[in-house]
Amino acid sequence: MPVQAQTPSSTASLMPVAPRPETLFVRGEGAFLFDSEGRRYLDWVQGWAVNGLGHSPAPVVKALAEQAATLINPSPAFFNPRAIELADLLTAHSCFDHVFFASSGAEANEGAIKLARKWGQLHKQGAFEIITFADAFHGRTLATMSASGKPGWDRLFAPQVEGFPKARYNDIDSVRALVGERTVAVMLEPVLGEAGVFPASTAFMRALRALCDEAGLLLIVDEVQTGCGRTGPLFAYQRHGIEPDIMTLGKGLGGGVPLSALLAKRAVSCFAPGDQGGTYCGNPLACAAGKAVLETLLAPGFLEASQAVGERLAQELRALSAELGLGAVRGHGLLLALELGDLPSAQVVALARERGLLINGPRPNCLRFMPALNTTAEEIQLGLELLRQVLEAVRAEG
Ligand SMILES: Cc1ncc(COP(=O)(O)O)c(C=O)c1O
Repeated sequence: MPVQAQTPSSTASLMPVAPRPETLFVRGEGAFLFDSEGRRYLDWVQGWAVNGLGHSPAPVVKALAEQAATLINPSPAFFNPRAIELADLLTAHSCFDHVFFASSGAEANEGAIKLARKWGQLHKQGAFEIITFADAFHGRTLATMSASGKPGWDRLFAPQVEGFPKARYNDIDSVRALVGERTVAVMLEPVLGEAGVFPASTAFMRALRALCDEAGLLLIVDEVQTGCGRTGPLFAYQRHGIEPDIMTLGKGLGGGVPLSALLAKRAVSCFAPGDQGGTYCGNPLACAAGKAVLETLLAPGFLEASQAVGERLAQELRALSAELGLGAVRGHGLLLALELGDLPSAQVVALARERGLLINGPRPNCLRFMPALNTTAEEIQLGLELLRQVLEAVRAEG
């Protein structure tokens, strides 16, 4: 479906904040994206682990159309039915009691940081430090950049927001060594996503819970990337048999529509009126999309089917890696990574795009795969075939 008539001729008016290919994407349908020339791409990025139900999924399109025609934004000063219904769904299917909605993952994480600091003021003599991790990613606001452990981010936009000492992931002793009088919480991703898909072990998650209980600290999970079925269960913490005190969601929650959430157990939900808010927080349009996503994920068999597809993809990637002499396959569900050995991921990603497959390279020699959670076995086979051809071609080019 070429749409040249709508195609802008230049990108000069946009801030150049990211290196982007010339390709202009104009339409999406399920597992596929289409560019302005009518070319089709199998999309294993899906908005960066966002479109759990694929591009323009029918339940979300319907919910948005109906809600847009009914009520878009009465203002956060008033209740609306969609926000209440979505909050009820989230609390019914998690260990949390209260929800605050926002628009981006970073905004939800800012809320989590503020909530922990408020709790520290009320219950821990003003303790405010939140232990986070080397290589973690929590967003691009000043506080969430400071909480992140991306190399170099401590100097970009200095000075940082203080109070985020860094421990080593999956190393409980490194966390224990940082606990002091000023510590109020530990915050982590259940799988380090942007760092290249490194899952936390169950032993580590349980040891963190025990340490937090022992030292009177809050355990915060950033499930912006891992939540909403991405790693198999509805929320990744559920894999480990522990209950965090605070969780954040984003990305997959809105199925492509900007929507995020901060969830807390009643005992730590200590915001007073005026402490937290935002113009778009809990607007019914975004919440209608979130409700449609969650209802689809919770339909009988959906998450099990997605998990089975993820296991199949991981298995096939392992076989491909063994055959081509590549490295480890990591991850859970449909958040997977493949180590490429000495093959450069940038070259693999670029050639894959030329051949109609969209993938992501979070590190110089590592690929990440984030297909739609409802992708089919045929689409997985198509992607694997394209990937094999691309890897062989890049290897042959030396
Ligand atoms: C774990 C995690 N937290 C937070 C964020 C930030 O979310 P957003 O880009 O919606 O602000 C991301 C984005 O990649 C993420 O992966």
